[in-house]
Amino acid sequence: MIGIFDSGLGGLSVMRAIHERLPDTDLLYLADSAYCPYGPRPLSEIRDRALACGRWLVDQGARIVVVACNTATAAAIELLRRELPVPVVGMEPGVKPAVAATRNGKVAVLATSGTLASDRFRSLVQAYAAGVEVYPLACPDLVAQVEAGELQSDQTRNLIEQHLATVPEVDVIVLGCTHFPPLKPLIATCAGSHVTVIDTGPAVAAQTERIARQINVPAGSGTIRCATTGDPQLVAPALYNVWGAPLPLVGVQIDSAVVVHE
Ligand code: DGL
Repeated sequence: MIGIFDSGLGGLSVMRAIHERLPDTDLLYLADSAYCPYGPRPLSEIRDRALACGRWLVDQGARIVVVACNTATAAAIELLRRELPVPVVGMEPGVKPAVAATRNGKVAVLATSGTLASDRFRSLVQAYAAGVEVYPLACPDLVAQVEAGELQSDQTRNLIEQHLATVPEVDVIVLGCTHFPPLKPLIATCAGSHVTVIDTGPAVAAQTERIARQINVPAGSGTIRCATTGDPQLVAPALYNVWGAPLPLVGVQIDSAVVVHE
């Protein structure tokens, strides 16, 4: 079984890509909804939550843990790789493919404030985006829209338009938060057909598949189960909207891990 977690429902976009590549592998998805959003939280708290979520998935039998969250990856990937006894796959905004794709040298990165303020993001831009203007756009309100299952509403469209109006004419938009791929059709429409929209979910799924084959994660029956640290009754309707079909969902309580922060 492969375990996948996010602060909420955004990581379902990554799970979909993993399920497409490994349709017979059992997947367990954990939405840390009680602590969503992660974006504005202090680094130490995101680390505590990420470690608690990762440990919980390992306790349930996960052979690989996928951090389907850019914010948790930026804050805690080294910690998780040190502490968990299984391979950990993380993700980062697709700055490299964006730099390769831009023609006018202007790229917007839509992400959380936590990701955009992180050392990992700064290093990524420094290493790969020389000569390209990178416009960071923190969009916590779009995270909230996805958590509410509002993928198509006028309000969501207005928010996207307002965000895009704050940056110059970019020709590439990076979806640097896993909550945004479910909004990709709307973002692409608002941005216009000359803009390329980049999602790193498929690359993360490819990496997960490589590791699953290397360590021989046994094929199961392709079942998908979900758990939330929030109220399952409140989460279920949005889960349905984002996934597009019903998925089994249970409520779980996961106490924060105590990490000794340097
Ligand atoms: N889905 C998350 C990410 O990829 C975080 C959203 C949030 O909880 O603020 O960054």
